[in-house]
Amino acid sequence: MQTIQLHDKQFVPYIDAAAIEERIKLLAQQIDADYKQERPLFIGILNGSFLFAADLFRHLTIEAEISFIKLASYKGTSSTGNVITAIGLEEDLSNRHVVIIEDIIDTGKTLHSFMHELNNRAPKSIKIASFLTKPSALQFPITADYVGFEIPNKFVVGYGLDYDGLGRNIPSLYQLSE
Ligand code: XMP
Ligand code: MG
Repeated sequence: MQTIQLHDKQFVPYIDAAAIEERIKLLAQQIDADYKQERPLFIGILNGSFLFAADLFRHLTIEAEISFIKLASYKGTSSTGNVITAIGLEEDLSNRHVVIIEDIIDTGKTLHSFMHELNNRAPKSIKIASFLTKPSALQFPITADYVGFEIPNKFVVGYGLDYDGLGRNIPSLYQLSE
């Protein structure tokens, strides 16, 4: 098995590029069918989702728009804890069907917190497309509507996902070696 090293850790092959492409084509067909006349606005969350967003978007045949944001967390009051805010979200979301594109939902904390900000902008609908989910790690009430792969609670890299900055350019998915 071809192990790779990033920083101090070893990773082993997990999902190959061909399987990823096949899965994303199916997701795109599903989204095509669900949003035929809706001209949805896709919002990709940087950095991790950039490859997934590009591949998903290129396989869509419906009319659609895409924009990218970064999420930043800052300390809220003691009652609210950390607040997640969107950097670069300039579109008017009222009357838009929005599809969030995320790389991975782990505990769900990031997206759960961001949903509040998104809801305040009163879009017509919000759905979530996540390349990966880790169901056994989920701690917040977040459900993805379109999921590439459900994976066990192990750290993965590749296809946009990084370990401390490295690994995003690997075309397939690798899993932390035991
Ligand atoms: P939460 O817990 O808020 O986490 O759902 C989502 C964010 O955590 C990062 N994350 C990972 N990044 N491999 C990664 O490269 C992983 O296995 C992994 N698990 C969580 C990621 O930035 C995601 O947006
Ligand atoms: Mg990351």
